[in-house]
Amino acid sequence: MKAIGVNGSPRKKWNTATLLEKAIEGAAIEGAKTEMFHLYDLNYKGCISCFACKTKDGKSYGKCEVKDELTGVLKKVNEADVIILGSPIYFGSITGEMRSFMERLFFPLLTYTDPSGSLLSRKVRTAFIYTLGASEEMARERGFDKPIVANEMWMKMIFGASETLCSYDTTQFEDYSKVYAPRFDPAKKAKVREEVFPIDCEKAFKMGAGLVRELR
Ligand SMILES: Cc1cc2nc3c(=O)[nH]c(=O)nc-3n(C[C@H](O)[C@H](O)[C@H](O)COP(=O)(O)O)c2cc1C
Repeated sequence: MKAIGVNGSPRKKWNTATLLEKAIEGAAIEGAKTEMFHLYDLNYKGCISCFACKTKDGKSYGKCEVKDELTGVLKKVNEADVIILGSPIYFGSITGEMRSFMERLFFPLLTYTDPSGSLLSRKVRTAFIYTLGASEEMARERGFDKPIVANEMWMKMIFGASETLCSYDTTQFEDYSKVYAPRFDPAKKAKVREEVFPIDCEKAFKMGAGLVRELR
C-alpha cells in the first residue's frame, strides 16, 4: 500500500506542508509506505494539448507523454493507492503549480465519453487539503469554495472517491510586525494558530489514516 502527498505550496514547512505531513503520518500509522513531493522543486508545465493520451491505439493512450521533471512523479502518483494533494488558496483558487500538475494527472485518465468516465480500474482513495488566509465566512462570501467543490467533483469522477479538508485563517507571516498587512490582527492569527490549527492537523492525520483503512 502506497500513500503519496503532493505539496502545491512553495513553502515546504508551512501550513499546507504541515497538514500534508500529518495526513501522510496517519497513512503510515496504518501501514502505508509514504512519499511526499514538493511541486515547486520541479520544472514542468501543464497539459499542452498534444492528445497523445487520447490517441486511439497510441502507445501513450491514458498516459501523459510529456517528458519533464513531473514525469517520474506522475508515474508514482498513478501507481499509488492513496493520493493526498495540498494547496494554499491563491487569488481564490489553487496555486498555478498545483493546477498544472492536476491537468497532467487528470486529463489522461478522464474519458471523453457521455457521461464522462475514468480509465482508472483500481480502487484508489484521494483527498485534497486546502489552506486559506481567509476565515471560513469570508472564503464563502468571496467564492473561494467554488473551485474547492469543483475539484472534489473532478476527483470523485476520476478516482471514485475524494475527501476535502480546509484549514482557514492560517498564519501567513512569521512576524506580522515586519510586514505591512493592517487587515490582519496578529493576536487573532496567533490564537487560531494555537487553538484551531492543531485541530486541523489532527483532522488531517485521521483523514490520512482513514483513507488507508478504507482500502483494506
Ligand atoms: C500570492 C498569494 C495569494 C493569496 N490569495 C489568497 C486568497 O485568495 N484567499 C485566501 O484565503 N488566502 C490567500 N492567500 C493566503 C494563503 O492561502 C495562506 O496564507 C496559505 O495558508 C499559505 O499556505 P502555506 O503556508 O502552505 O504557504 C494568498 C497568499 C499568497 C502568497
